[in-house]
Amino acid sequence: MEKLIIDGGIPLRGELRISGAKNAALPLIAATLLAPGEHVLKNVPDLRDTRTFLKLMENLGISWQYDGHILKVDATHLNFSEASYELVKTMRASVLVLGPLLARLGKAKVSLPGGCAIGERPIDFHIKGFEQMGVNIKLEQGYVDAEVYESMQGTHIYFDIPSVTGTENIIMAATLAQGTTTIKNAAKEPEVGNLIDMLQGMGAKIEGKNSDTLIVHGVEKLQPANCTIIPERIETGTYLIAAGATGGEVTITDCQPAHLPALLEKLRFAGFVVEQNADSIYLNAGKISENGGAIRSTDIKTMPYPGYPTDLQAQFMALMTLADGVSVVNETIFENRFMHVAELRRMGARIQIDGHSAVVKGKGISGLIGAPVMSTDLRASSSLVIAGLAASGRTTISRIYHLERGYEKLVDKLSNLGARVWKEQE
Ligand code: EPU
Repeated sequence: MEKLIIDGGIPLRGELRISGAKNAALPLIAATLLAPGEHVLKNVPDLRDTRTFLKLMENLGISWQYDGHILKVDATHLNFSEASYELVKTMRASVLVLGPLLARLGKAKVSLPGGCAIGERPIDFHIKGFEQMGVNIKLEQGYVDAEVYESMQGTHIYFDIPSVTGTENIIMAATLAQGTTTIKNAAKEPEVGNLIDMLQGMGAKIEGKNSDTLIVHGVEKLQPANCTIIPERIETGTYLIAAGATGGEVTITDCQPAHLPALLEKLRFAGFVVEQNADSIYLNAGKISENGGAIRSTDIKTMPYPGYPTDLQAQFMALMTLADGVSVVNETIFENRFMHVAELRRMGARIQIDGHSAVVKGKGISGLIGAPVMSTDLRASSSLVIAGLAASGRTTISRIYHLERGYEKLVDKLSNLGARVWKEQE
């Protein structure tokens, strides 16, 4: 196992190119299962999760070539319909093969993911949706064993909470179902929009992109896709927050500022200069030092898109440990997404958890001190990286395989911005 070492206290400066979005790439790869032939996906990030998903595709009989962020998937020979516990337990997004497998083969057996470091994370909405579409589902020995009765039927589906992968799974299944499927309270995340673009390019009939009501008219068959993955908004946000926390000045390129409305407003409120163009964002923390070195305490509440993203909660909390007063971080999406708090406290942060909220008593910009800390999940780990970059002294983060699930070339990208950061064997 590898650990990450950071000698903190250096402002990040320079220009940084953003990779493709993990949570768009995974459903788009799953969607290739819907049509035989060769699909071409561009801007696919080279991440541990991408590699795990490709292994899952291989297990299903699918061949692929991946070179220079271009992924060619030949989905002609789909001859297996099972996703094992071994794969699903390392990456919950494996459940995204359920919808396409049911649509194309009429059956699928996928391991139930179980809980994870951020909460219980059930998939009951996916299962209920498929049952409404005419799928017989048995839960046996930790697996979802699903088989279509006669044919998948369009229906009306309502999500109690907008679920990202739930929406994606149902849309994919509905593209080849008989009749029309309506999804109410659907997720509006940009990654869902990227999937809809791809499916429309394959010949699917979908209305309502970017809204909470999606209407999918089933078609008889789909063609192979040619589609580009959208820029990674969570990576973009993580580097912006890191630049702010270190008192730096960065320009983030090849990103999509329109996908980060809540974060950009929060960063401006906290006192940073944030300028956005069509595909780049400039952040300057200089004004903070003019104002006596104080980052302004800023509350956040995580919400479904376009609200503040839960995947940027831990990172913003790290920033708030350096602010001038008290801020409240309210997590409404996942019940257990405060695993980073105990680690941030090891670096001197003052944070108290009260149910779904964390009260952060900022200690000013020089408030954190480097320490050995532990990664617990992907986004919690990136908050420790931010804290380590801003802290005085050395921070050692163990179990960094979590980070590699979602941040492409993290060490290279940070080093190019001037950070002193490297990996070592544990
Ligand atoms: N929920 C249910 N039942 C379901 C599905 C969801 O109760 O059947 C609840 C969840 O427990 C949660 C809420 O609904 O409270 C929303 O969960 P959602 O289904 O939207 O989450 P997800 O689809 O499993 C995706 C991302 C996550 C991201 C969340 C929220 C992918 C592959 N994963 O998960 O990304 O945090 O949406 O935006 O798209 C990450 O990248 O680090 C990550 C965890």
